[in-house]
Amino acid sequence: MTTIFFENAEGQTIALTLNGERRSLQVQPWITLLDLLRDQLDLVGTKKGCDHGQCGACTVLRDGKRINACLTLAIMCEGAELITIEGLADGENLHPMQRAFITHDAFQCGYCTPGQICSAAGLAYEGRAHNREQIQELMSGNLCRCGAYTNIIAAVEEALPLTRDQGEQHS
Ligand code: FES
Ligand code: FES
Repeated sequence: MTTIFFENAEGQTIALTLNGERRSLQVQPWITLLDLLRDQLDLVGTKKGCDHGQCGACTVLRDGKRINACLTLAIMCEGAELITIEGLADGENLHPMQRAFITHDAFQCGYCTPGQICSAAGLAYEGRAHNREQIQELMSGNLCRCGAYTNIIAAVEEALPLTRDQGEQHS
């Protein structure tokens, strides 16, 4: 899908925190958060799959909650704290969920992986998943066309308590 930006069209300035950095951005009212991240800020770790809220490839964290960036207008993120896959690690230290995905080899092509990891981090902060079945149910919005679900669920199951602890430390 090609996205056309009207460089001279009047935009609105929004202020937000993106991956720990305060940013002031000029956005057109119709630009989605996904297009802002990928096409204007070059944060291409967040993937565009369906662009219709059905695959989860575009999942990012807004104020600690997982959202689909393709269904979110950038302008709605005024004042928000956003974390994308690029901002999940703490410097050189990978996020526990990232480490678990590597340990469990929880990807094949990797296209869904950033969304899976961000979604799983958000799930941990929600504190709603306490067993494998609940993880499967609550991660069902994140599709993997390679079918790496067994390893993905194993990774999430392992990292969930670690991530939850980390979230509590940060809250
Ligand atoms: S690209 Fe956003 S849900 Fe598929
Ligand atoms: S690893 Fe290929 S789509 Fe999930």
